[in-house]
Amino acid sequence: MTSQLSDAIFEFHAATIPGTENVLCDELRELGFASVRLNRGGIPFRGTMQDGWRACLQSRIAARIQVLLARFPCRTPDDLYLGVQGVDWKTFISRTQTLAVSAVSREDALSHSGFAALKVKDAIVDQLREGVGERPDVDREDADVRVFAHVANQKAAVYLDLAGEPLNKRGYRKVAGEAPLRETIAAALLRMAGWDRETPLTDPMCGSGTIAIEAAMWAGNMAPGLLRDQFGFERWANYDEDAAVALRLLRGKLRGAAKGTMPRIIASDRNADMIEAARQNARAAGVKLAFRTHDLVTHPPAGEKGFIVTNPPYGQRLEMAPEFPRQLAAVCSRLHGWRIGILTASPAYQQAISAKPVQAIQIPNGGLDCTFLVYDMP
Ligand SMILES: C[S@@+](CC[C@H](N)C(=O)[O-])C[C@H]1O[C@@H](n2cnc3c(N)ncnc32)[C@H](O)[C@@H]1O
Repeated sequence: MTSQLSDAIFEFHAATIPGTENVLCDELRELGFASVRLNRGGIPFRGTMQDGWRACLQSRIAARIQVLLARFPCRTPDDLYLGVQGVDWKTFISRTQTLAVSAVSREDALSHSGFAALKVKDAIVDQLREGVGERPDVDREDADVRVFAHVANQKAAVYLDLAGEPLNKRGYRKVAGEAPLRETIAAALLRMAGWDRETPLTDPMCGSGTIAIEAAMWAGNMAPGLLRDQFGFERWANYDEDAAVALRLLRGKLRGAAKGTMPRIIASDRNADMIEAARQNARAAGVKLAFRTHDLVTHPPAGEKGFIVTNPPYGQRLEMAPEFPRQLAAVCSRLHGWRIGILTASPAYQQAISAKPVQAIQIPNGGLDCTFLVYDMP
């Protein structure tokens, strides 16, 4: 069985939300990964399995890290079955473990993705039970090993997921607000806004504090995965004692790279319960923020120059306060020289702000088509 500590080079795929590919690509390059390429839907890079571990620990933006196990021509269900059987599955999964398979197929003969996933699952369990009869069970909720297959253009690619639980589940969100932003999206917004990690930053509608906490972790060079108890790759059959020691060393090295100094990061909201939630989450994340309970309209952000990155109310809550976009626009218009990033699904904010956005990036969030608008206030 090949250990996860071997020097073999793999191709990885960092899965991400549409619209965030550019910033994920920048992040992975900055983190020193090799052969990083900009690609729609996810970013490929190359490295050893331990590089894959490091991506799970250090990437703030990736939703999942997957390793490519096989790529082969695939036109029919049999092609898929035989191609999957070409992988030595006992390296990753024992007969007593659990398995989850998902697939996306755009091939005519495999047009039903559920059917493609079933073929992949059958190929894996048939290989593993050969001779003995015992086979891994399927567990969609909490599988030891998660397999993903992609079939398109008469080719199939089969991946193993290193993350397990998606990487946005950092482990610090103890209390969620009304519409909490996914941690990976918050991290992507900060990079899209061009925040330099030094200029003071405010989220004046912080809710449970996600944007401010992600900002503090980034500025403090705190690897987001350090708060997680476990990743998917720690449950694979080839994760042995030596691998556990190597992972502990890597965690220690990343912990040692955290910085003590921090720019001023303010998290405010008019709802005191939200500020309490943000306070508890920040404590769990191990970051220090300045908290304020006040209304943005009566207590606008102040100071010579700063950044705002925020996610204002939308949907029903905005319908209840239709004047709010104009009030926010009036606050922004007085923040000369500030850079302001607003993630919203409502066109009312862009209509209310007279400045032209320097960026407008489409990002799906919470089932809605949102736009991240970035303004340099004159
Ligand atoms: C969509 S939620 C923000 C969610 C947040 N990004 C998170 O991850 O939890 C919008 C927040 O704006 C706050 N809010 C609405 N109007 C406000 C105002 N006038 N001043 C300050 N906060 C306000 C709400 O209390 C709510 O927490």
